[in-house]
Amino acid sequence: MGRIVPCEFPMKGGGVCVVRSPEEHEAAAVLECARDVFSTSRFTLTQADEFTYTVEQEAELIHQRTLDPHALFLVACQDAADGTMIGISNVWPGPKRKVRHVGTIGMSVHSAYRFRGIGKALMRAMIDWGESVPTLHMLDLAVYAANTPARKLYESFGFVQHAYLPDGCRHDDGTLWDQVFMHRKLHQKP
Ligand SMILES: CC(C)(COP(=O)(O)OP(=O)(O)OC[C@H]1O[C@@H](n2cnc3c(N)ncnc32)[C@H](O)[C@@H]1OP(=O)(O)O)[C@@H](O)C(=O)NCCC(=O)NCCS
Repeated sequence: MGRIVPCEFPMKGGGVCVVRSPEEHEAAAVLECARDVFSTSRFTLTQADEFTYTVEQEAELIHQRTLDPHALFLVACQDAADGTMIGISNVWPGPKRKVRHVGTIGMSVHSAYRFRGIGKALMRAMIDWGESVPTLHMLDLAVYAANTPARKLYESFGFVQHAYLPDGCRHDDGTLWDQVFMHRKLHQKP
């Protein structure tokens, strides 16, 4: 099952962030955090006006991720009692049996909480979970070449670049950005 035991991480500047699996009834709070991210960052693939998930659809996504042993939905909260979401991450497997051993990662941190260690905490929790699933062989992701903070974060957790797509992203104003594709193998002996 794609769930974890809640874990605490210190935040830069003080306080603790709790990374845990969300419950279906928290779908509205998850959507609120996601909407903040999509409306404040150009580094996400989804744009704010494309994000039309309803509370019911988000609850169903949480439910499906929880049931799937190769999927994971995580949220970060400011403390155990606080239902305000300050970060979200997901792992989802390839859509066919031949690619189910590869889990794709997506992650985002609320604009008011970036660069305080929450991205690192979410990544740590995803990798630790991935290492506990023997049939999941690797994690992969896509990131814009211009997204230096995210690329540094991924590299620091052992992700390596395997592909580069020049002009892989086109913004509405016509600006073109390159995309980088990275992966990290799981269950590697030191
Ligand atoms: C990218 C993102 C997920 C990182 O999460 P975060 O909580 O802000 O980052 P953290 O505080 O955990 O920092 C992790 C690492 O990122 C790097 N980093 C952080 N801030 C940075 C900055 N301003 N410049 C360069 N690298 C930076 C560092 O390597 C840092 O590790 P360190 O603290 O040991 O030096 C978050 O900033 C975010 O959601 N941004 C907008 C949406 C986005 O880019 N999503 C990712 C799409 S692929």
